[in-house]
Amino acid sequence: MLYIPMNSFGNKFKVEIFGESHGQCVGVTLDGVPAGIAMSVEDFSIDVDRRRPSSKGTTSRKESDIPVFLSGVYDDHTNGNPLTIIFKNENTRSQDYKNLSKHYRPSHIDFVASCKYGQFADLRGGGAFSGRLTLPLVAAGVVAKKILQKQLERTLEFNSNIISVGGVPFGQHEQLLGDAMKNGDSLGGIIECSVNGLPVGLGEPFFDSIESVLSHLLFAIPAVKGVEFGAGFHAASMKGSEHNDPIISHDGKTKTNNAGGVVGGITNGNQLVFRVVVKPTASISRGQMTWNDDTGKVESLRVKGRHDSCIALRAPVVVESAAAIGLAQFVL
Ligand SMILES: Cc1cc2nc3c(=O)[nH]c(=O)nc-3n(C[C@H](O)[C@H](O)[C@H](O)COP(=O)(O)O)c2cc1C
Repeated sequence: MLYIPMNSFGNKFKVEIFGESHGQCVGVTLDGVPAGIAMSVEDFSIDVDRRRPSSKGTTSRKESDIPVFLSGVYDDHTNGNPLTIIFKNENTRSQDYKNLSKHYRPSHIDFVASCKYGQFADLRGGGAFSGRLTLPLVAAGVVAKKILQKQLERTLEFNSNIISVGGVPFGQHEQLLGDAMKNGDSLGGIIECSVNGLPVGLGEPFFDSIESVLSHLLFAIPAVKGVEFGAGFHAASMKGSEHNDPIISHDGKTKTNNAGGVVGGITNGNQLVFRVVVKPTASISRGQMTWNDDTGKVESLRVKGRHDSCIALRAPVVVESAAAIGLAQFVL
């Protein structure tokens, strides 16, 4: 079977992410960006820095992460052409991944990528499946936020926070994280994201509902395993009288927000709220029994390389960027 890659998202604001963790660069091409939006390298600093590994439990791989505009920017403004932004990969250690094409990491891509791409699979640093590919996603989010501001003529307020790590509230997780790291293990987490200032009426009733489009993007983030809007899974144990959000003013403000700001797939003018589940990092240094194609046996594997012990710690801005990209589809 001929494999036809499909690595772009969107219609009016089209996002194509490319690159590999240990290739020359990672980047994004954005089509549909209107001309005349101010765009400088500095505009990316805040969100790029928020994604950067820094706290305990994040990878020791350090990159400069400076955006380079290859096209689409002239005189510090977008020029209406496809906007291509790249980030060079400068700090790679590919030898750490050599054995993984035969001795597969549990819950990582080594086995599936080897089956799908055969000898051409690029497993260095996770290849195209690496969390590194979320850097161009964040860059696309910066541009999406600018598009939203221009088209809606207001500044939306995005907030994204880690609410729990390893099953305990964020802030009380330090001991748990320290213990996991000491044991060569990893932790998952939950991130909550909200957006204030959205007008009523964004989204379409069916396939392009706000929930569908945002979920498509959120599940594209490596390691995201769950998404819920508003009351989410808790709605199943609520009564209608508890879950319904009474409308308390002419502009549609509701007393509660169990809908998470979306009804019928369309924004209702209240705060958009959703949560994502990020799984514990698959690459852990403690021994795990897993299939080795070289020996034809299940054997212990200790994963080498530099890894995040808790991916969720770096993911809030990634989640927020995915939301901005999704919302930008509806305002152009
Ligand atoms: C910001 C970020 C950093 C990540 N860092 C790592 C890492 O250091 N080690 C690892 O095994 N996975 C890491 N991942 C997750 C893997 O890329 C992902 O688990 C893998 O591609 C398998 O995909 P799946 O978990 O979505 O099924 C990271 C993901 C993100 C979003």
